[in-house]
Amino acid sequence: MDHFQYNNGTLRCEGVAVSDIVAAHGTPLYIYSARTFQDHFGRLRDAFAELDPVICYSVKSCHNLHILRILKGSGSSFDIVSGGELSRVLEIGGDPSRVVFAGVGKTDDEIRRAIEVGIGWFNVESEQELMRIDRIASEVKKPATCALRVNPDVDPKTHRYTTTGKKETKFGVDVDRARRVFAEFGTSDYVSLSAIHIHIGSPVNTIDPYVQSTTRAVELIDALRNDGHEINALNIGGGFGAHYEGDEAPPAKDYAEAVIPILRDKSLRLLLEPGRSISANAGVLIGRTIFTKSGGDKQFLITDAAMTELIRPALYEAYHFTWPVSPGEDFEPENRRSDLSMAGCQLMDVVGPVCESGDFLAKNRMLPPMERGDLLAVFSAGAYAGVMGSRYNSRPLAAEVLVEGDTFRLIRRRETYDDMVGCERL
Ligand code: LLP
Repeated sequence: MDHFQYNNGTLRCEGVAVSDIVAAHGTPLYIYSARTFQDHFGRLRDAFAELDPVICYSVKSCHNLHILRILKGSGSSFDIVSGGELSRVLEIGGDPSRVVFAGVGKTDDEIRRAIEVGIGWFNVESEQELMRIDRIASEVKKPATCALRVNPDVDPKTHRYTTTGKKETKFGVDVDRARRVFAEFGTSDYVSLSAIHIHIGSPVNTIDPYVQSTTRAVELIDALRNDGHEINALNIGGGFGAHYEGDEAPPAKDYAEAVIPILRDKSLRLLLEPGRSISANAGVLIGRTIFTKSGGDKQFLITDAAMTELIRPALYEAYHFTWPVSPGEDFEPENRRSDLSMAGCQLMDVVGPVCESGDFLAKNRMLPPMERGDLLAVFSAGAYAGVMGSRYNSRPLAAEVLVEGDTFRLIRRRETYDDMVGCERL
C-alpha cells in the first residue's frame, strides 16, 4: 500500500524515522515517499501494458515540481487543468505533446499558450470552447488536437461533490449531443477532433462504472466512425481508488483486466489520468499537539495541522487514518480502519486552531493517550491535501519533504510572513 510503517513503536517513511524529519523541518509538515509514488505508477503501467497507454498523472492531485520529476522519470506524462499546471510541467521538462489539458473554463491566454507549446490533447468540455480553440489555432497557425469530453451518464457511487460523469454536470457534453458536436466541428483546418474523453468521478472504488462508461464510449466511437469521423484515441480519465482505510481500492490490475477486453482490437490509443491512486498513499501530514482539552463528553486534541493543510474532512467528510507518530510498541496500529480501537485508547476529535467549527481532521476516533508536544500523523494525505492548502487565518503554507530510501530533503520550504504579504506590499 505504501512505505509508511510503524517499527519499534514509531512511524518510519521508507528508511527514515518521521520524528527525525520533523526535528529538521518542524510542523505542520507533509512527508512524501518517492518509492510509493513509483510503486503505484508502476502498477498501473504494468497492468495496462498490453495497450501501451499514455499515462497522464493528474497534476492537480499533488503538484510539487520534485514529485512531477520523479513521475516523469518513471515514464509518466501529465494531465493539467490550468496555465499554472502547464508551467509546472514545462519547468520539469515534461513533453507537451503527451500532455492532456482539461477544464471547463480555459481562458484564451491558456488556450493560446497550450497551442503554442504543442499540447497533446485538449479535453474539450463545450461547443463554445471548441470554437475558441478553432479561432485561436487559426490565429496562431498551429494545429490543435482535441478530445471531446463526453458524460457517459454512469453513477460512480462516490461523494456528490466529486461525481462528474452524470448527465447533470458542468463537465463535458452528453452522449446524444456528442454526435452533433462532431457533425458541426469534426472538420476544420486547425482543429483535429479525433478523440473521446470520459472521467466519471473520484474516487471510484468499484470496477463496474469503468466497464459501463468505457463500453458507452466505444459504442459512441463506433457510431462516429460510421458517420465518417476518424477517432484514434480514448481517454478513460482517472478516479481509480486509493487506500484510506487500507483495503478499499481495487488493485490496478482489476481495473485493467475489466477495461482491456473492451478496447482490444479497437485501434484506439488509450490515455489514463490517474491522480489519487498514485499520490494519496504517498504522503502523510504531520501535526504537533498544541493542547488537549475536554468539551462535554469529548476529548479534543488541538494540533498545529488544520483544515488549511487538509480540507478533505471539512469538505467531503473524508476519512483519513490518524495516529500518533510515536505511540510506543503497545500502540502500534494493526490496521488503518475507522473502527480501530486498542485497549487504553480514548475517544477524541482531532482539530486545528482555525476559527471554524468545520476545522477538524478526525472525529470520534479511539486514539492512544496523547499529550502536548506529541506528534500526530494523518495518513493518505498525498492527494488533494497540500494542493488544496490555504492561508486562511494568515497561516503560512506548510513545508514539504521528500523521502528517498534512507535520505530526505526539503522540496518546498515553509512560507514566511514576508512570503504571505509580499503581494500586498504595493
Ligand atoms: N481527470 C479529470 C478530468 C479529473 O477531473 C480528475 C480529478 C482526475 C482526472 C484525477 O482524478 P483522481 O485519479 O485523482 O481521482 N478534491 C477531491 C477530488 C477532486 C477530483 C478532481 N478531478 C478530493 O479530495 O477527493
